[in-house]
Amino acid sequence: MIIAIDGPAGSGKSTTARAVAEQLGYVYVDTGAMYRTVALAFIRNGVSAESPSDGKVRGLLANIRLDMRFGPDGMRIFLDGQDVTGNIRTRQVTEVASRVAVIPEVRERMVQKQRRLAGIQEKERGGVVLEGRDIGTIVFPDADVKVFMKASVELRARRRYEELLDKDPNVSFQDVLSDIRARDERDVSRELSPLHQAEGTIEIDTSHIDLHEQVAMVIRAVRERTNRPIV
Ligand code: DC
Repeated sequence: MIIAIDGPAGSGKSTTARAVAEQLGYVYVDTGAMYRTVALAFIRNGVSAESPSDGKVRGLLANIRLDMRFGPDGMRIFLDGQDVTGNIRTRQVTEVASRVAVIPEVRERMVQKQRRLAGIQEKERGGVVLEGRDIGTIVFPDADVKVFMKASVELRARRRYEELLDKDPNVSFQDVLSDIRARDERDVSRELSPLHQAEGTIEIDTSHIDLHEQVAMVIRAVRERTNRPIV
């Protein structure tokens, strides 16, 4: 059972994916964290994400090790053996991640890793939840359940702003809003695997429904798929 959850930044994918995975006894794979970790490697190695040469990107990808581990607090991600789960949430990494995500070699590597990881999880636990931008379109176009989550840009920026306020009381709402707008623009307009709603997806607009209902909608789709009674 592959459950693909896509949508723009701040649409509520992670919270929903985490809750769905928990209810079903699966793990959830945060594919954005993978692009963020590659971005961190770019930063640490002084490789520019603006217009890097193919050689530099290939060299970097060949030399870094990316591992994902799953525990009670969700997915943890490691760069060359170091747990960087907390380090990849900065504004700088967020910005660079959306630039490395347009590089074909990076996407190829990430997609390969995601498919391999999901295969292992499906064997071990019977299913897996993946969330990102291209899961239902590119990584698993034949996923058993495909979900597309959306919400207005103002609401998504408000959510991110409130998350960031905990870490940095000086953060400005206008900055967060313009960051999200710029990332949306790059996500939907990039040539390779742009964010768009795949055929046959369940659309969830999180502006109007709460987490409980979002999760229930996905679980209902899973039950229909497996013909298991809804409990
Ligand atoms: O979901 P997020 O904000 O953590 O994602 C970080 C960046 O990675 C974001 O700019 C979009 C990109 N991304 C992607 O291109 N494909 C994915 N499957 C997941 C994320």
